Amino acid sequence: MNMTQADQKRAAAEAAIEHVKVGDVVGVGTGSTAGFFIDFLARIKGKIDGAVASSDASAAQLRRLGIPLLDMNQVGTLPLYVDGADEATRNRHLVKGGGGALSREKIVAEASEKFVCIADQGKLVDRLGMFPLPIEVLEMARSLVARK
Ligand code: A5P
Repeated sequence: MNMTQADQKRAAAEAAIEHVKVGDVVGVGTGSTAGFFIDFLARIKGKIDGAVASSDASAAQLRRLGIPLLDMNQVGTLPLYVDGADEATRNRHLVKGGGGALSREKIVAEASEKFVCIADQGKLVDRLGMFPLPIEVLEMARSLVARK
């Protein structure tokens, strides 16, 4: 039986739950796949200490589902960040940020020990860069980011 794209996103999200450990503060990303992950996270909300969101939309979903929402400034290193992707290659190169939540996503990812990227088959490409990608330049970080 062929899985629909939504089924694949849901299955990937469910599989990512295995990475969540008791007492974790989990970083959660943005988009429809991350949305499925948040739905699954709600089922085990008693097991975690809370979540940090990379967008207002994800924060609203966390709140709605009664998952304690924490601010990045309240937490140190996160053990886990789970998010979708826009494009991925078999060599695990990724494009993210197509939804425009890129700065917050990068900050949460940077603060996390492990990044579990969940994606449906439609995200798999031979070569990255099939669509224009938004970039956001934070004025104070311009030189730092250019050097990196
Ligand atoms: C947000 O800026 C993006 O990086 C999303 O994480 C990405 O677009 C995945 O979105 P879907 O899960 O909706 O496909």
